[in-house]
Amino acid sequence: MTKQEKLENLRKLIESNDVCRELKAQATQLVFGSGSTDARVVFIGEAPGKHEDATGEPFVGAAGKFLNEMLASVGLERQDIYITNIVKYRPPDNRDPLPEEKAEFWPYLLKQLSIIQPDIIVTLGRHSGQAFVQDLRISVDHGKAKRMSVTFTDKTVGGKRDDGVQGDDKEQSKTYEDTAKQAPESSTKQSASNLNSASSSAGGQVQMTFVILPLYHPAAALYNGALRQTLLEDFQIVPTLLNEIEKGE
Ligand code: URA
Repeated sequence: MTKQEKLENLRKLIESNDVCRELKAQATQLVFGSGSTDARVVFIGEAPGKHEDATGEPFVGAAGKFLNEMLASVGLERQDIYITNIVKYRPPDNRDPLPEEKAEFWPYLLKQLSIIQPDIIVTLGRHSGQAFVQDLRISVDHGKAKRMSVTFTDKTVGGKRDDGVQGDDKEQSKTYEDTAKQAPESSTKQSASNLNSASSSAGGQVQMTFVILPLYHPAAALYNGALRQTLLEDFQIVPTLLNEIEKGE
């Protein structure tokens, strides 16, 4: 099965499992994610807004335009990357996604990532960052890459329904290792062989290893010149990390 087919099955599973039933009832459609299924970088935002809800595509509004600008500043286009959100239905009135909504979508996000197998996961904003790094303080931790490993039980294997998975954080473990900001010699040392990997065992245990880079949310920077500059600067770390990983440093 191709990655595209696996992702399509996952999309159908989210719909048939009625994930976040109440949000689904109020939203126009599921905003699953878009971009290259072979992307080395996956960007993860919070939740769809008005434009995303209308089009079914993530980051197509004002924040998305700024994101496109930042991608262009490092020589990337939308088709080079994959982009999705923690919560995949628009919350009413653009309110913040609730903890239980993030928890319900979490196993599906992990599954989505394990299919794509990116080298780097860029979280956009606090909600997305804290899903991976619980004690993340965005004002302190933005732009600091960490190597990370996540283990989870994939209960979607074998086409089974996913009922038991939702919000089930107990079987999932995360480990982090600091990597230095913009320090090629230390940031991904001895990591290349582990990177971009997602291995599954017979019991559906999946282990993924990647580098996580928490950034501010582009919407927060739209009307704040200083934050905009910070985000643009932090973004420059993406090609540096890609190069290091490519070279196996
Ligand atoms: N903000 C997000 O977090 N995600 C989107 O898809 C759009 C705006």
